Amino acid sequence: SRIKEVQFVKSSARAKDCPRDDRPEFAVLGRSNVGKSSLINSLVRKKEIALTSKKPGKTQLINHFLVNKSWYLVDLPGYGFAKAPEASKTDWSSFTKGYFLNRSTLVAVLLLIDASVPPQKIDLDCANWLGRNNIPITFVFTKCDKMKVAKGKRPDENIRDFQELIRQHYKQHPPWIMTSSVTGLGRDELLLHMSQLRNY
Ligand code: GTP
Ligand code: MG
Repeated sequence: SRIKEVQFVKSSARAKDCPRDDRPEFAVLGRSNVGKSSLINSLVRKKEIALTSKKPGKTQLINHFLVNKSWYLVDLPGYGFAKAPEASKTDWSSFTKGYFLNRSTLVAVLLLIDASVPPQKIDLDCANWLGRNNIPITFVFTKCDKMKVAKGKRPDENIRDFQELIRQHYKQHPPWIMTSSVTGLGRDELLLHMSQLRNY
């Protein structure tokens, strides 16, 4: 599961503009600011191959990164950005839903969940939508390094609460991994997990 090489391939505004070859791919999805672009950088050990920002709404297109010339990591725009103009919210759902429903090479969605906050309805809705459409997911909990959370619970407690809610909708709990782009927690585990999924 070692990464030897990664190349940025292209940004696409629509699902039908995405690369057309049969290489397997993993989509990185989650709320704005959850750490999607940071996770990609951490996985491939490049500081800014995927652009990140403290402000939500940084990634606006579907970005394909080719790993070891054999599979793709796909950075997507985040959902649930409260300050986004109404028009761009509609855009999000039509163009990313189009991507999920038509992308035959999609192996699994890495659904990123911020472990430093309590369960969010929009994340549960997203997981349920993917489940209803039979799209395989792996929960990737991000920001597990954040031990000091304002008036709240620790990451492991938030994760437990989230999983409790997921069990009400999924007969079989999807795989899940705890990560931090700051400490590298979960990096090797996630790479191994993806290599196993590619070989099924
Ligand atoms: P959009 O492209 O806007 O949807 O955001 P994104 O999900 O790609 O988030 P991004 O990777 O740009 O990170 C958002 C902010 O969270 C940045 O300030 C990151 O430094 C921070 N961040 C990301 N991952 C972690 C993490 O594991 N731990 C901590 N402490 N901060 C993180
Ligand atoms: Mg991003």
